[in-house]
Amino acid sequence: MENPVDPAAPVPWSLLPPNAGLDDEGGLTVGGVSVAELAAQFGTPVFIYDEAHLRARCEEAVAAFGPGVAFASKSFWCVAMAKIASAAGMSIDVSTSGEMAVALAAGIDPERLRFHGNNKSVAELAAALEVGVGRIIIDSADEIARLETLAAATGVTPKVWIRVTPGVHAHTHAFVQTGQEDSKFGFSVASGAAAAAVAEIQATGLLNLVGIHAHIGSQVFNLENFAQAASVVAAFFTPLGLAELCLGGGLGEAYVAGESAPSIAAWAASTIDALHDAGVGPDVEITAEPGRSIVARAGITVYTVGTIKDLPGLRTYAAVDGGMSDNPRPVLYGSGYETFLVRAPKAERPRSIRLVGKHCESGDVLVESGWVPDDLHVGDLLATPVTGAYGYSMASNYNRVGRPPVVFVENGSARLVLRRETDQDLLALEV
Ligand code: LLP
Repeated sequence: MENPVDPAAPVPWSLLPPNAGLDDEGGLTVGGVSVAELAAQFGTPVFIYDEAHLRARCEEAVAAFGPGVAFASKSFWCVAMAKIASAAGMSIDVSTSGEMAVALAAGIDPERLRFHGNNKSVAELAAALEVGVGRIIIDSADEIARLETLAAATGVTPKVWIRVTPGVHAHTHAFVQTGQEDSKFGFSVASGAAAAAVAEIQATGLLNLVGIHAHIGSQVFNLENFAQAASVVAAFFTPLGLAELCLGGGLGEAYVAGESAPSIAAWAASTIDALHDAGVGPDVEITAEPGRSIVARAGITVYTVGTIKDLPGLRTYAAVDGGMSDNPRPVLYGSGYETFLVRAPKAERPRSIRLVGKHCESGDVLVESGWVPDDLHVGDLLATPVTGAYGYSMASNYNRVGRPPVVFVENGSARLVLRRETDQDLLALEV
């Protein structure tokens, strides 16, 4: 899509957390707290989240879908986030024992957990039965067998959904498409694999099949894609007479100037309408699993500029103290981001830069085509907005760099929810 917005214009305010503002000097505040002061207190890089927005988005999802709607924990997960999602009334989508452990540490009732994953281990499935996870979403024939063996051995009859692939190509990056036939996830509707899985589960009676699940992909802007999936899934689901139907997550989020995403309410209304139009009855509990759309815009990442390298006739590189270890999305998916000066978020940005990190490879790019004010200098704080989803959660220790801290801000006060990972933390793994 052609970017209709002047790249030199100030960063679009709509990409910032909703509780962003300006201090007396025109510098950025979030939740009423000066971002420069947060950087001074916690160091950089640092993830800063607008806590009120996290809460508001969770509440919006519950209002749109009801309490069965689950927060996709893979998008951003820690005990503080778990408490916010849970207090707002959301259920939780976990896909590993690690994500489950955070939910349990936050005191979430295991009944409200939905356990996903295309290759859950026997140990993970056994743990899910032991703690009493609310729903296990079965992804493969091997998993049916594995879970039936565990169910027979323990005498527990878990409530399960099966995950189906509706054969729909979502308009998004190939790495995050999941609804198509050629997928590692789920049982194909078209091939009959999904029907065979239902028959297998119902024949033994060891598992209690209560619902069907589908997820077509992530960062999907076109509501029509969800509606197409809805009609395929509805045709499969309705004759089964089951009570629960979940159409996954995937609602897109605007990252750069010129993009705009549907609201959670619009997504819910169009998906639920499409399911009802396709024959899903009014008593069926229709749910979803948003991740990105809950947390993406709440978060920004703040870095310090360490060097600026001008290559006349080529480009200018501005290097910051983080990089692909705290945000691998540009490298993995070619994802675009904006950047702006924390001390002047309303300033025009006529100067073209490539924002790069500190890692030992040329691919370590945070913003390929960034725009900044002319007076950008070493020591400045630069922020990238819309980093609340799949940033911290996909962060790595590449080059033995510790993960940045996470700070929640609201009503003029800040709280550290995840501290910075230190060299000692990393050395603690050595045996
Ligand atoms: N449900 C299931 C079964 C999923 O696999 C996912 C995401 C979600 C829900 C949540 O989707 P969301 O609402 O966040 O789009 N790392 C990629 C995104 C991978 C998404 C994986 N599954 C990225 O940074 O774009």
